[in-house]
Amino acid sequence: MRQKKKSRSVCCWSMLALVVLAIAAVILLIVMIKPTDDGSGTPGKPVKKYADALTLAMQFFDVQKSGKLEQNQIEWRGDSGLQDGSEAKLDLSKGMYDAGDHMKFGFPMAFTATVLSWAILEYGDQMQVVDQLEPARSSLKWITDYLINAHPSENVLYIQVGNPKLDHSCWNRPEDMKGKRPLRQVNTSAPGTDVAAETAAALASASLVFKSVDSTYASSLLKHAKQLFAFADKYRKSYSISIPEVRSFYNSTGYGDELLWAAGWLYHATGEKSYFEYATGKTAEAYGNWGNPTWFSWDNKLAGAQVLLSRVSFFGSKDVASNDVISKYRETAEAVMCGFLPKSPTATESRTENGLIWVSEWNALQQSVSSAFLAVVYSDYMHTSRTPQISCSGSTFKASDLRDFAISQANYVLGENPMQMSYVVGYGDTYPQQVHHRGASIPADENPSCKDGFKWLEADTPNPNIATGALVGGPFLNDTYIDVRNNSMQGEPSTYNSALLVGLLSGLVTRSSVVQSFT
Ligand SMILES: *[C@@H]1O[C@H](CO)[C@@H](O)[C@H](O)[C@H]1NC(C)=O
Ligand SMILES: *[C@@H]1O[C@H](CO)[C@@H](O)[C@H](O)[C@H]1NC(C)=O
Ligand SMILES: *[C@@H]1O[C@H](CO)[C@@H](O)[C@H](O)[C@H]1NC(C)=O
Ligand SMILES: *[C@@H]1O[C@H](CO)[C@@H](O)[C@H](O)[C@H]1NC(C)=O
Repeated sequence: MRQKKKSRSVCCWSMLALVVLAIAAVILLIVMIKPTDDGSGTPGKPVKKYADALTLAMQFFDVQKSGKLEQNQIEWRGDSGLQDGSEAKLDLSKGMYDAGDHMKFGFPMAFTATVLSWAILEYGDQMQVVDQLEPARSSLKWITDYLINAHPSENVLYIQVGNPKLDHSCWNRPEDMKGKRPLRQVNTSAPGTDVAAETAAALASASLVFKSVDSTYASSLLKHAKQLFAFADKYRKSYSISIPEVRSFYNSTGYGDELLWAAGWLYHATGEKSYFEYATGKTAEAYGNWGNPTWFSWDNKLAGAQVLLSRVSFFGSKDVASNDVISKYRETAEAVMCGFLPKSPTATESRTENGLIWVSEWNALQQSVSSAFLAVVYSDYMHTSRTPQISCSGSTFKASDLRDFAISQANYVLGENPMQMSYVVGYGDTYPQQVHHRGASIPADENPSCKDGFKWLEADTPNPNIATGALVGGPFLNDTYIDVRNNSMQGEPSTYNSALLVGLLSGLVTRSSVVQSFT
């Protein structure tokens, strides 16, 4: 009896323990699974395809680095451009080469930094899950170190290293550059509102990235950003007008977008009322282009500014969120989204038969990835704020429709296309072999002088070096691609395309809510 009794009590205690354990396990499971979709902020399991592509895409920044390299992972790259800036007694050795050439063009380089910062601010936690946060930050810093040095006094900004005509008359490795590297600046007598404001946007957004990592550096970034914005605003003129030679490469078709974009970033970085008032004041009235979708690119940041400022509407405190002009930013951002969604009544017709956003023959993928990046960001704003839908001329769409659109563009880029090739170098089995990229095209143990290298441009053989992670220009409207080295229209990669791709892939790598405030 006694024994039985005892054993019964043992039996019951152990059963109770089991039940308790089971309940605990269920609770644990719910807690573990939940974050992937309830918006609580903890990233879920990464999608391998996007994680692999992101890891590759991030490496293209290492391919493009100028200066004395640190912990270089690209075996065919070495130090270069060490004397850049010396004619003005400045150290402009860092920064990144723009594309397949060795120019440092400040306007697109600053845009690259702004987009990379934005990607880190929205998706740093997701980058972290696949060990890409640190590489993203250090590539960003490689550019912002350069931009700080390019801004030696309040109203002077160096906007270019190298002369494009001289640079393009050579085909050699960056490590073997011997020619002159002339500098160009904007200043009070030759202002450049667009380039100064874009640089302000880059430094303000980067100050948010580094705030928690290195507060001294972050303050320095912010100080330069504020000065550059004041310079841009006070001396209003496009750099394309002040310095006509820039028109052949990175012509700026206007500066209103950069002023709003920079004011938006400065407001996020400082919380200061003056920047809010700027972003919602006269300049917004003049350049907001309310209701009209535009394409997001190195030249035009209006769509980016609209999405960025819609953040205030989604997550800001009541007084700012309900501001009329903030509502206009959000409405216009929504019009941009409606253009992307293939089933929307206002869907853009700028697409290939296979659904890729396609706007321009040159560097076609820029708008595909920039649109997809904005779509995934906006989708996550909706998801995080539990906004059930947007309305496009009477049809409604959910956050998941925007995410699906972003996925469709990413999947096309990674190989789901009629060519059955990846447009990211190094990703998948089939990718471009003759990328228009000097360094990648010349064997690392050759040191051709300026002209001797052209035989590698002309050679009909695969690049000896892999330009890892490069996103090439992209397909024709008929979804085809010609993999020939001299086809720079389709085959030239750029750092800004890569920044946009990194943003897109970081948004897709896992699913989680975005932070409500960057600060
Ligand atoms: C201002 O910039 C212009 C254009 O780059 C340049 O020609 C001029 O020399 C600069 N002014 C000064 C004082 O350096
Ligand atoms: C360059 O931009 C200016 C405006 O800054 C514009 O007037 C001009 O048409 C553009 N040129 C080219 C070649 O796109
Ligand atoms: C696709 O378009 C390009 C550029 O317009 C053209 O050169 C090429 O012949 C076209 N290819 C096919 C298969 O139609
Ligand atoms: C490459 O293309 C450009 C522009 O189409 C042309 O001027 C040049 O001669 C070509 N070079 C070679 C080596 O094919």
